[in-house]
Amino acid sequence: MSERFLVTGAYGCIGAWTVAQLVREGVEVVGVDAGDDDRRLRDLLSEEELARAAFVRADISEPAQVALCFTREPTHVIHLAALQVPDCRKNPVLGAAVNVVGTVALFAAAAAAELDTPVVFASSVAAFAAVDGGGGAAVDPSGPPDTHYGVFKVANEGTARVFAMESGLNSIGLRPHVVYGAGRDRGLTADPTFAMEAAAQGLGYTIAYSGRCEMQYAPDVAAAFIAAARAAFTGATVVNVPGTSVLIDEVVTEIERVIPEVAGRIEVSGPALPFPDQLDSGAFADIVGSVPLTPLSEGVAATIAHFRR
Ligand SMILES: NC(=O)c1ccc[n+]([C@@H]2O[C@H](COP(=O)([O-])OP(=O)(O)OC[C@H]3O[C@@H](n4cnc5c(N)ncnc54)[C@H](O)[C@@H]3O)[C@@H](O)[C@H]2O)c1
Repeated sequence: MSERFLVTGAYGCIGAWTVAQLVREGVEVVGVDAGDDDRRLRDLLSEEELARAAFVRADISEPAQVALCFTREPTHVIHLAALQVPDCRKNPVLGAAVNVVGTVALFAAAAAAELDTPVVFASSVAAFAAVDGGGGAAVDPSGPPDTHYGVFKVANEGTARVFAMESGLNSIGLRPHVVYGAGRDRGLTADPTFAMEAAAQGLGYTIAYSGRCEMQYAPDVAAAFIAAARAAFTGATVVNVPGTSVLIDEVVTEIERVIPEVAGRIEVSGPALPFPDQLDSGAFADIVGSVPLTPLSEGVAATIAHFRR
């Protein structure tokens, strides 16, 4: 049977890269999004490539709309639609509706459709508090996170586990860290990408957090979601996404290496992120296998080249 992917949050950063990869592979894709702003996809795909994907406008927090999406009979499901940290902070009720109710609705529809591949959903490093993962140790998934967004992600990880127990629905949750690259223009951790965009225009920028994090190039993250959706896995698990652990200062060095004219004008200020600075992604390799891991230098150079275009 040929593959048909349902991708929620298809117009977002990771969603656009996911749809783009699938279209280029020649795989059928149905993108779902509450919005209609497809500029991130237009940045990545030609008009002709974009026409090969189908899109459904639907609000993931409305179970009837989610159920309608499943009438497209997907063979694989990647669930990315969510509000990010700042929006959940501004409006926690809406955040819970989209991030928590939306995920339950998605799982319920996948269970009703008797999906036999694992639902792959985006959790986040924000499901953990910073203190849990100090020094790169494998973390205890008991949290507690310091943001509403993180609490919602913990709830979703639990939802996935209960759907496996009660409905036999398989799932793999992925916890990205700091995703960067074209299209990363929203969320608490978008600053490194904003700095690359500013530098591409010869401008300075101040990254509002410091310390260490795992930088993950958006196309690599998309490839990780797709590979997980194709994994032969039963049960429910949540794993960390492979990345490159760096100090934010190293990101600045890479930007300055590509654009020496901005040297000294990309600054780092503010506290470390309220998440662990590093996560162990060994379980991802065991369950999904190996996926591309673009070196930071290449990812930064490609992102700056994108913004220059
Ligand atoms: N970007 C990161 O660094 C990062 C890190 C960890 C986890 N994640 C998670 O990965 C997923 C994708 O992140 P992203 O960076 O692509 O986010 P994004 O904000 O760029 O995209 C999210 C998309 O979801 C859509 N959406 C919002 N509410 C919706 C609703 N009610 N119904 C349908 N669609 C809706 C938005 O229109 C948007 O296109 C999210 O679940 C996010 O929490 C991202």
